[in-house]
Formats: sequence, structure tokens, C-alpha cells
Amino acid sequence: MEKPYLILSVDTSCDDTSAAVTVNDRVISNVISSQIELHKKWGGVVPILAKRAHEERIKAVVDEALKLANTTLKRVNLLRLQSLTLSKVDAFAVTIGPGLAPALEVGIRHTKELAQKHNKPIIAVNHMEGHLLSSFACNALGHGSATNNTFPLLGLLISGGHTQLVLMHEFGIYELLGETLDDAVGEAFDKVSKMLELGYPGGPILEHLAKGGDEKAFKLPIPMRKRQDENYSFSYSGIKTALLYLIKGLKEQGKLDKKIIQDLAASFQRIVAISLIDKLEIAVKKTNPKGILLGGGVVSNLYIRHSIRRAMKKHALPVYIPYSKKLFTDNAAMIGIAAYYQSKRNNFVSDITLLDRSPNLSF
Ligand code: KG4
Ligand code: ZN
Repeated sequence: MEKPYLILSVDTSCDDTSAAVTVNDRVISNVISSQIELHKKWGGVVPILAKRAHEERIKAVVDEALKLANTTLKRVNLLRLQSLTLSKVDAFAVTIGPGLAPALEVGIRHTKELAQKHNKPIIAVNHMEGHLLSSFACNALGHGSATNNTFPLLGLLISGGHTQLVLMHEFGIYELLGETLDDAVGEAFDKVSKMLELGYPGGPILEHLAKGGDEKAFKLPIPMRKRQDENYSFSYSGIKTALLYLIKGLKEQGKLDKKIIQDLAASFQRIVAISLIDKLEIAVKKTNPKGILLGGGVVSNLYIRHSIRRAMKKHALPVYIPYSKKLFTDNAAMIGIAAYYQSKRNNFVSDITLLDRSPNLSF
């Protein structure tokens, strides 16, 4: 292993409070305190509630990340430290955006305090770079998923907040090819689930229901298909509206039973997969990547993942996903991985006092 570089990273960009310890590209601990229960009854994330919950939890989450890291370091006999304390880390890392401003603020403030107290540098990380690099994360023993470091790689980031297609030329050099014009993929799952009064988050619920449904039962519009060669933009508002009317009609006719709901879920999921593959195919033809990187909460969806793998197999392209499910959704370990590669480029915050949130940060 290269000279070990120890990072304590923090992510509070949305509704998960997370802290992690990484040594180079290895994840030593990754603690995530989810706020799903808190936001469930509102059908989505409420920023002010998220901020308060982050404030209440951040210290305990950092302490837990440190405690778990100590156990893991001993188990795998890495670093041979007597005990890992905050004063022994090489740097702190924190997500500065994109995300909810009040939520981001909490993580940044806490990280600043830690860095100042222990006199260490801060690495400011773009949350989306974290998702993009999540497949480069290795476990404590050094086993990871994206072993192929030949570039360019094409990244598809699909979460509740973002849908982006990114060309990675190398670590630190990214080109945003396209993104959603309206809703993110995960958000579309959540909204369709809400229309069907199924609950939140909608992705896992709809995926489960889709298993028992006929994916060709309903003919839904394929988003952005007409504009195939023009750009890489995604859009999910059209399909959402189509479903809204369909559901309304079915309800009025008293036909919205379990089987129909399963068919709707399967048909919707199929169209989402097609829309993602459409754009991937165009990008593959134009950019000739060496592989595909998948990141974000929607990667949990097996149907979508398998559909993408099948499509990319025709181009003989490997598809990388993070080694652990915990790295799909928001988590601090992916921030630690992005920060490690930034440290190699000497990319540190020059004046900690000026560090601020950047809610609309892009690639
Ligand atoms: O990455 P993530 O934790 O949050 C953001 O950074 O936005 O992703 C959460 C999103 C939610 O919208 C959720 O419905 C979706 O990921 N999701 C899924 C599945 N599991 C989570 N969408 C489709 N199928 C799934 N199995
Ligand atoms: Zn995210």
C-alpha cells in the first residue's frame, strides 16, 4: 500500500448524517444516521428538520465512525496505531455541495471546528464527485470494484436529487455531458409512489411491486426519445404527468387494484431503464469510454442495474458499482475517497475561515 493517508470525512448534504474514516482508497468505517423516519410523513425531505437532526446527531456520528475505525484497524492489522484519535488523522474532508444549504452548513461548521481544534487541513468535496468515485472505494482489506483505471470512464449518477451523465477523463477532470431538466430519477420514483399512495421512499416500494407486474401492460412515453441525437438531457416530468392521468382514470373506473398497481410499477420502471440506456448508448458512441461507473441511490434497483449491464455488454463495456450497498446512497466514505484523490493533487482549502457551502455546485 502507498503511504497511508488518513481522512475523517463528513457528509450532511441532504437527509443522512454521515461520517467515515478512510485510509487512502480503503473504507475503514462508514456511519450513516438516516432521517427517513423523520421525513416520511411529509413525503419528502424538509430542510429545516434535516438541519436540526444533523445538529443533534453529528457529534455522535463522528465518534461512532472513529470507534468503528479503531475496531476495523485492529481486525485487519492496518497502521498499527495504538488507537486512532482525531488528532492522528491527516486531514478532514467535508461535502460543500450540491445539497440543501441548511443541511450542508451543519457538516461544514462541525468539520471546521474539528480542523481548527486539531490543526489539520480541510479538503472540500463535491458531493457528486463522491457518488462518481464511489466505485473506486475499497474495503479495509483493499478489495474494490473499479480496478480498471483506464480512462475515459462514463459515469451515470442516479439519485433522489440528481440524474447526471459525466465523462471522467481522469481523477479531477470531469465533463458534465447532461443532466435532468426537471425531476431526478429517484425523485420520479418517489412521486409516482406518492400518487399511488404507497409511501416513501418510493424506489424500493415500486421495485418490489414491479416484480409481480407486466412491464408491457401500459404504454408510457419514453422521455426525451425524439431528441435522441441532440443532447444528453433527461426528463421525467412527462412520464409523471402521463401516469397521473392514467392513475386518475383507473381510480375513477374503480380499476386500481393490486395487479394494476404492479403493472403500473413495472411499466414505469421499464421506461425509466430505457430512458437511461438511451442516453448511455449515445454517450458510448460519441465518447468511446473504457467502462461505466454507476452511483447514487437508484443503483440499488436490480432491474435497472441488470438492464444497463445487458445493454453495455453489447459494447463489451464493464459496468462498475460500489462494492457495498452503503456506498450507493449518501454516505461520507465516498467523500473520503474523493478527498483522498484530491489530496494527491494537493487540493486543500487554503483559508478554512472562508470555507462556505455551495448548494448549487456542479462538475
Ligand atoms: O442517493 P440517495 O440516497 O439520495 C440522494 O442523494 O438524493 O438516493 C435516494 C433515492 C430515493 O429517491 C429513492 O427512492 C431511490 O434513491 N431509490 C430507488 C431504489 N432504492 C432507492 N429507486 C429505485 N429503485 C430502488 N430500489
Ligand atoms: Zn447523493
